[in-house]
Amino acid sequence: MDLDNIVAFLAIILWPTAGSEMLTSVDPPTDLQVTDLGHLGSLHIRWKAPLILTSKRLCVVRYMLSYCNVDSTNCKRVITKQLEYTDGFNLNKGIKVKIQTFVKDQCTNGTKLHSDWAETVYRPSMEGHVDSKVRDLQCIVYNLEYMDCRWQNGLSAPNATSYRLYYWHEELDETTECNHYIRNQESIVGCHFLSDNLIEFSDFNICINGSSTMGPVRPAYYTLQLQDLVKVAAPDQINLTSSRTDTIYVQWKPPASKIKPHCLKYEVQFRGKSSDWQTKVIPEPVTSTTLKVTTKAMHCVRVRATVNMFCADKSIWSDWGSIQCLTEPSDGGEDVIKHNFLAELIVLMALVLFTLVLCIGTLYSWIRWKRLVAKKKLNILLS
Ligand SMILES: *[C@@H]1O[C@H](CO)[C@@H](O)[C@H](O)[C@H]1NC(C)=O
Ligand SMILES: *[C@@H]1O[C@H](CO)[C@@H](O)[C@H](O)[C@H]1NC(C)=O
Ligand SMILES: *[C@@H]1O[C@H](CO)[C@@H](O)[C@H](O)[C@H]1NC(C)=O
Ligand SMILES: *[C@@H]1O[C@H](CO)[C@@H](O)[C@H](O)[C@H]1NC(C)=O
Repeated sequence: MDLDNIVAFLAIILWPTAGSEMLTSVDPPTDLQVTDLGHLGSLHIRWKAPLILTSKRLCVVRYMLSYCNVDSTNCKRVITKQLEYTDGFNLNKGIKVKIQTFVKDQCTNGTKLHSDWAETVYRPSMEGHVDSKVRDLQCIVYNLEYMDCRWQNGLSAPNATSYRLYYWHEELDETTECNHYIRNQESIVGCHFLSDNLIEFSDFNICINGSSTMGPVRPAYYTLQLQDLVKVAAPDQINLTSSRTDTIYVQWKPPASKIKPHCLKYEVQFRGKSSDWQTKVIPEPVTSTTLKVTTKAMHCVRVRATVNMFCADKSIWSDWGSIQCLTEPSDGGEDVIKHNFLAELIVLMALVLFTLVLCIGTLYSWIRWKRLVAKKKLNILLS
């Protein structure tokens, strides 16, 4: 007899008995275990099938896993037919894991059965006072070129605490220590990551722990999504053109970076000679807009950029690009009006001068004529 025949033979012998014993209840899984993979947040959960099911080949078995931090009510639920599961966790607190068995089909005669929960709590190492751990970690990915993370020392860190940063993501074989620490005088206050250390759309796990001769320091864990921490370079190439109709046409180029132009959105600010900035949000990744302005005075414009909602859940605005101003006022603008006014003034003054000269001339001629007549009269009288 070959192997297939043996299996078929056993099946004939065993199945009728297995099938005839209908299950009316089922036990929870056994041997539920949680292991830290050393990846600063990934935990591996495994369990064994309840004993009663090991001989029931016709059963359809599923496990429902439920897990969250101990103080949370917002637990994640997963249904699987495997006997293990791996996910990312927040290791700053204890983790509660529950599991139950579901069976249906032939071995239960069509009804669906579920077991009670089996439960365990995983407690990461919690040495050191809670206030000894670092605070306010802030990470910014500059233009997808590099990332800087900075933190504040714990409020009650032991004297001479020296912090260290470790990180892991799925492209790394093992947890790695920061290569380029940022220092303030002698103490470490942050970490500089080069672009080949960065990964988007995947968990980026960080642990900052520390040591001190005065006592243990509580580690702090963070899980980041780097695409949500991008700060784009400021858009700098801005061109302004204006037309007769109180509008300014603004055009700019996307900042030079690895970020795709369709992932950006912009905000434009403009102001007249002595007014406050007015803001115009450009929701789409277009790189031009038309501004309606009320006066013909000189206008200045600046633009900033950020990653839009199609490419990230959160974003940071870039710095403002350099301010561009309309250097030559548009046709019919202030200067032209000023020129016309000046010309009119000159013509007016010339006219006044001409009239004055004419009046004086006339008066002079009249006086001379009068004198001449008087002289003539005198001559006639004397002759
Ligand atoms: C299975 O259920 C059917 C009806 O749903 C019933 O007629 C049958 O007797 C049940 N079989 C067993 C072994 O309980
Ligand atoms: C820690 O340092 C401060 C001043 O720097 C000092 O006053 C304090 O006594 C030190 N604490 C310990 C436990 O050494
Ligand atoms: C800090 O964490 C890293 C990575 O988990 C570990 O290798 C190191 O021993 C820890 N250091 C201290 C002082 O606990
Ligand atoms: C702005 O104008 C300059 C010179 O005319 C041109 O080289 C540049 O490409 C323009 N920039 C944009 C954003 O249109």
